[in-house]
Amino acid sequence: MLTKAIGQSHAKAILMGEHSVVYGEPAIAIPLLNINMIVSIIIRHDHQQIIKSRYYNGSLSDLAGAYEGVRQLIVFLLEQFNATDLGFELTFNSQIPQERGMGSSAATSIAVIRAFYALFEEPLDRKTLLKMANIEESITHGSPSGIDTATSSSEDPIFFIKNKEVTPFKIDVPGYLVISDTGIMGQTGLAVSAVRRLFDEEPSKTRRLISDLGEAATSAKTALQTGDLVALGQLMTKAHAHLRTLGVSHPHLETLVKTAIEKNALGAKLTGSGIGGSIIALAKDLTDAQRIADALSAVGAQEYWISPLASQMNTEHLN
Ligand code: MEV
Repeated sequence: MLTKAIGQSHAKAILMGEHSVVYGEPAIAIPLLNINMIVSIIIRHDHQQIIKSRYYNGSLSDLAGAYEGVRQLIVFLLEQFNATDLGFELTFNSQIPQERGMGSSAATSIAVIRAFYALFEEPLDRKTLLKMANIEESITHGSPSGIDTATSSSEDPIFFIKNKEVTPFKIDVPGYLVISDTGIMGQTGLAVSAVRRLFDEEPSKTRRLISDLGEAATSAKTALQTGDLVALGQLMTKAHAHLRTLGVSHPHLETLVKTAIEKNALGAKLTGSGIGGSIIALAKDLTDAQRIADALSAVGAQEYWISPLASQMNTEHLN
C-alpha cells in the first residue's frame, strides 16, 4: 500500500439523450477533459478518517445528507480492502459545479474509487469501476442509467445504451460547445421522477417523445460523423423542445436557450437532468461561441465554458 494517491475524473455534457436514456434509448455524451475532479488521499497514523472539500471539513462518519452516497461508497471501499480502521485524509479538489447537469456526483465516485485503488495498488477494470460508482449514484440519484459515470471516466465521447452499450468514438468536426450554468441547482432524482410520473399519466405521448429523443441521438451520431453541424444543431434544439414537453426545463433554461439561438447558435438545449442546471449551445466557430457566451452572461448565466467539439483538451473556463 502507498502512503498517498490520487484519482481523477472529468465533468460531462450530455449532447443528446438525457432522460430518454433511462428508458433504454441511445444517448451521446462528451467528457469535458479540462473540467476535472481530483481526489487525493494521504495516510494518517492516528486512525482518523478525515474528509476535506469546499463544502465539508470533518470526519467520514459525520458525512451525511447529499454526501450519504459518497460516505457509503468510501465505507464499501474500506471494507473491500480490509481496511475499515485505516487513518486517512481525503481531499476533494473539484472544478465541477455541483448539481448543474455536469456530472459532479458521478465524477466524485469515479475519482474516489480510482484514488483508493491507486492507494492499495490494485488494478481496476472499467466494468468494476462503473459497477462501484453505481453504489453512490443510486443513493444520490435513485436509479441512474450509468451514462454520467461512463462519461466521467472516459477520455472520448461515448455512444451509450443503458445496460447494453458504452462505445467511445472520436469526433473530427469543427464547432464549439458553449456550456452555461443557470446557477440553479438541478435535481436529478426529482427530474427523473417527474418524467416517470408523466409516463404513468400520459403513456403514449411520453413514449413517443422518448423514442423521438432516442432517434435524435442516433441521428446526432451520424451528423457528428459526417461533420454536419447544422443538422446537429437542429437536432439539439428539437431535443430541447421535447425535454420541455417532458417537464424538465425551467424559465432560466428557456432564457438561455432562446438567447443562444438569437445569437446565432446552430442549436441549443438543456443538458443533464434539467429543472435548473446548465445548457449547451453549438457554435460554428470561436467568434460565435464567444458572442453567445457574452450574451448568456448578460441574461444571467452564472458561469460558462467554451469547448471545441472535437478536442475537449482545450476546454477553457472563461469566467
Ligand atoms: C443525468 O445527467 C442524466 C439523466 O438522463 C439521468 C440518468 O441518465 O441517470 C437525466
